Amino acid sequence: MKWNPFAGEDSAHDYELLPSDGIHLPRTARTRRIGFRRERLVLTIAFLFALSSAIFLALDLFVVRKSWHGRDALQSVISHLWPVGSVDRTDSWENENSKVMNALFKCAMENNCRENQTSVVMLSSPHFIGILEGKTSGEDIWALSIFKSLQEMGYTTIIAPRNYEMARTYRQYPDLVKIIIAEGSAAEACFKDSACIKRPEHPLGVPAWKIFAMHFWTGSAHPLGSKWTLSPENFGVIAPHNSKDNFYLGYSIERTCREIPITPSLERPAQGYVFAKQISYFYGKNYAWPNISWEPPFDLKLYAGMRNDTNYPSEVPKGITNLGLLPKHEFYEKVGQSRVFIGVGSPQLSPSPYDALCMGVPFINPVRGWDKEDPENRHKWEAQHEGLRYEDPPYVYNVKTGDEKGLWEAIRQAVENPIDRYIPPAMTMEALKSRVGRLVEGDWRSKAVELLEERQVSGKGETFEI
Ligand SMILES: *[C@@H]1O[C@H](CO)[C@@H](O)[C@H](O)[C@H]1NC(C)=O
Ligand SMILES: *[C@@H]1O[C@H](CO)[C@@H](O)[C@H](O)[C@H]1NC(C)=O
Ligand SMILES: *[C@@H]1O[C@H](CO)[C@@H](O)[C@H](O)[C@H]1NC(C)=O
Repeated sequence: MKWNPFAGEDSAHDYELLPSDGIHLPRTARTRRIGFRRERLVLTIAFLFALSSAIFLALDLFVVRKSWHGRDALQSVISHLWPVGSVDRTDSWENENSKVMNALFKCAMENNCRENQTSVVMLSSPHFIGILEGKTSGEDIWALSIFKSLQEMGYTTIIAPRNYEMARTYRQYPDLVKIIIAEGSAAEACFKDSACIKRPEHPLGVPAWKIFAMHFWTGSAHPLGSKWTLSPENFGVIAPHNSKDNFYLGYSIERTCREIPITPSLERPAQGYVFAKQISYFYGKNYAWPNISWEPPFDLKLYAGMRNDTNYPSEVPKGITNLGLLPKHEFYEKVGQSRVFIGVGSPQLSPSPYDALCMGVPFINPVRGWDKEDPENRHKWEAQHEGLRYEDPPYVYNVKTGDEKGLWEAIRQAVENPIDRYIPPAMTMEALKSRVGRLVEGDWRSKAVELLEERQVSGKGETFEI
């Protein structure tokens, strides 16, 4: 009989150890037969094993081949999507977007995305382009520090400078977008634009609660109110009358500042830097030191880097050497060699005093408003730099405007009490990142649901789609 492992019935027969036909076989024959059957059993098992191995191997090869094929195709397609770094490319923000989209696709394909990489944060303000172009206004510096912290935390950041690009990009992967950081005016404009905001007839529009408004000043700047308004300083504490619920995002100059080497205080000349980039600051209504003499009553040389922006007769106060408007690196160099950084009233809320402190230079902060009955109550002060009004010597000297004696005393103290690099605790990169994390991962949808209910009940405030 031909041995056929697949012949079920027959083989069942073959494997009977006792003869079914009732014939009593001699012991030896029976034994031999059993032995023979054992051999066949082993052979059969081995064959089955080999066969299944072969089948699996073939299947495996097929699958692997197929997936390699798929990988090749994907890889070659991806290399053509979002081209990066073409020489003629001037729109560098698109280049930045292409880099991160490429990286996102690649990590998804290779299954090795970093923590947070699959969460997209859209950056929708011209200031995020400004930073790529090296601009340095207060808003640009704020934008840069948001950008840097998101990147260090591994989030995928997509820049979309205007609402048009923002809404268009959002529609392509709405669920991946955690939040959008925009200008207040843009948030308002999107809210009113049926091609931008989510509406029943525009389901892929941007939900208002995913947009956050960057607002450098106090007050609310978002259609959903203060909670969706991002502040550069802790206005909830500094300006509770109109900014109690603003989201204190803040910024950090730590990374850029630490790249600048500083001169040890003791090696610095007897030099102070007057913080004024333009001559008009000495003539405007915010000028903190009208009628004082800028000639120091002790050994100190004062510098400023100003351009003449006045169209009326004006002069550089006697006692101050004007170096002309300085390029950024020369500004830092000159400040870093000074022993004191002196405010004159404008500009307000500028990041520069933070730079000075971080370079080990104390700041003189003019206080231009206070309660006459309660002059030492800081909650009631109004200072040139509101963010620094709660800081103290040897870092920050808060001096009331017009107090010439107090001014020179503070300057003398600052010169005689050198400081190390100083970054206020809330302004470190670590502190910023923890606030950024709270912003990106916050449950804003629930807060929006609550707000919507309030608005529906009270009939006050516009309603919106969740
Ligand atoms: C500065 O001095 C001038 C004249 O000496 C005076 O008219 C003016 O009121 C003074 N300004 C302030 C703010 O004290
Ligand atoms: C600045 O320019 C204005 C007008 O051009 C002139 O009257 C004024 O004296 C200048 N100031 C300085 C400090 O050069
Ligand atoms: C990812 O984001 C979370 C929350 O924002 C943060 O705590 C974490 O540190 C981030 N991961 C990295 C690698 O920075």
